[in-house]
Amino acid sequence: MSFNITYLPGDGVGPEVALAARKVAEAAAEKFALVIAFHEFAFGGAAIDAHGDPFPPMTRRACAEADAIFLGAVGGPKWEGGAVRPEAGLLDLRKALGLYANLRPIRIMAGMEVLSPLKVERARDVDILFVRELTGGIYFGKRVEGNEHASDECAYSREEVERVARVAFEAARARKGRLASVDKANVLATSRLWRAVVSELHERDYNGVELSHVLVDAMAMKLIERPAAFDVVLTENMFGDILSDEASVITGSIGLAPSASLGGAKAGLYEPIHGSAPDIAGQDKANPVGAILSAAMMFRHSFDAEAPAKAIEDAVKAVLAAGFGTADIGGNDGCAAFSNRVAAHLAA
Ligand code: NAD
Ligand code: IPM
Ligand code: MN
Repeated sequence: MSFNITYLPGDGVGPEVALAARKVAEAAAEKFALVIAFHEFAFGGAAIDAHGDPFPPMTRRACAEADAIFLGAVGGPKWEGGAVRPEAGLLDLRKALGLYANLRPIRIMAGMEVLSPLKVERARDVDILFVRELTGGIYFGKRVEGNEHASDECAYSREEVERVARVAFEAARARKGRLASVDKANVLATSRLWRAVVSELHERDYNGVELSHVLVDAMAMKLIERPAAFDVVLTENMFGDILSDEASVITGSIGLAPSASLGGAKAGLYEPIHGSAPDIAGQDKANPVGAILSAAMMFRHSFDAEAPAKAIEDAVKAVLAAGFGTADIGGNDGCAAFSNRVAAHLAA
């Protein structure tokens, strides 16, 4: 089997962590005799600089034709206030490929609880899968820009809610059987629709899953108070953006968290959940673990290859457990050195 990966390094630390993940993915492919090929295209701020467009036609075509898309990160101060922002390219990519389900696993590896800003007993056994709706809500509603007045519409259809809820219920069924659906149904109409659709689907097809509805403000609190109580967490687009950044830090650093965005299209999109981290860009300081674990998700979800996915995850665990890591988790390695260790562990 051979797989073509459209490779979008992007901006800031994006190219650093994407390269790290690429090296590890290539080592895993070699070990398991899979043929993978990375093809680089301009995306985000880098593409604005080169082509005046964050998602140029060539990149768009390459994404549509790929078996998977791997992204570093986009954005940065350089493009703020410009006519078009790098982030618009990312939203366009997600929408164009119909990638409505964003999986963001937040897991504390055994023995790594000391990295958490929470007390060890609270951090122990945290293993949450966020399922974030990714192509609807306030990100994609009608937007009015203005100096005196501005608005962002938040809209959801029944179908948009149901298809992502189904992904979350299926995941819960395959895990510990618990789903927490997050909304703001005490205020928002979209949240009341959300809650109704999730409840109906639960009754109809998933009554074996234990479902709870949690208001988003309380969820922000409960994630800190008792993070190990959660299994799968389903959210609309913006609530999931915010809560997954919050949850990632429970594991020690946002740099540890991976993601997969899946949907109707042939290819999935794989990227760490963090941004371009302009404050540490170009210094070989970025933690590549989130990007490397995103590559593991790519093997699992787009190549149907569990063994290399597991091997990458085990190699990351082994290198972290041996005490290596980047500065954000108290280690002495640079981004490149850490990823070389993971690749070497795979090759051994
Ligand atoms: P950020 O995630 O880039 O950084 C937040 C903080 O976390 C910073 O202190 C940064 O140094 C740290 N951090 C992030 N990634 C890290 C890593 N791998 N290792 C160690 N530390 C890490 O968020 P921000 O600063 O709010 O945003 C910067 C830019 O990134 C903005 O332009 C934003 O729009 C963009 N962004 C892009 C994506 C994406 O491409 N998917 C995601 C989030 C933000
Ligand atoms: C993320 C980012 C993006 C989002 C931005 C850059 C559009 O924060 O991937 O989490 O809000 O979805
Ligand atoms: Mn985000």
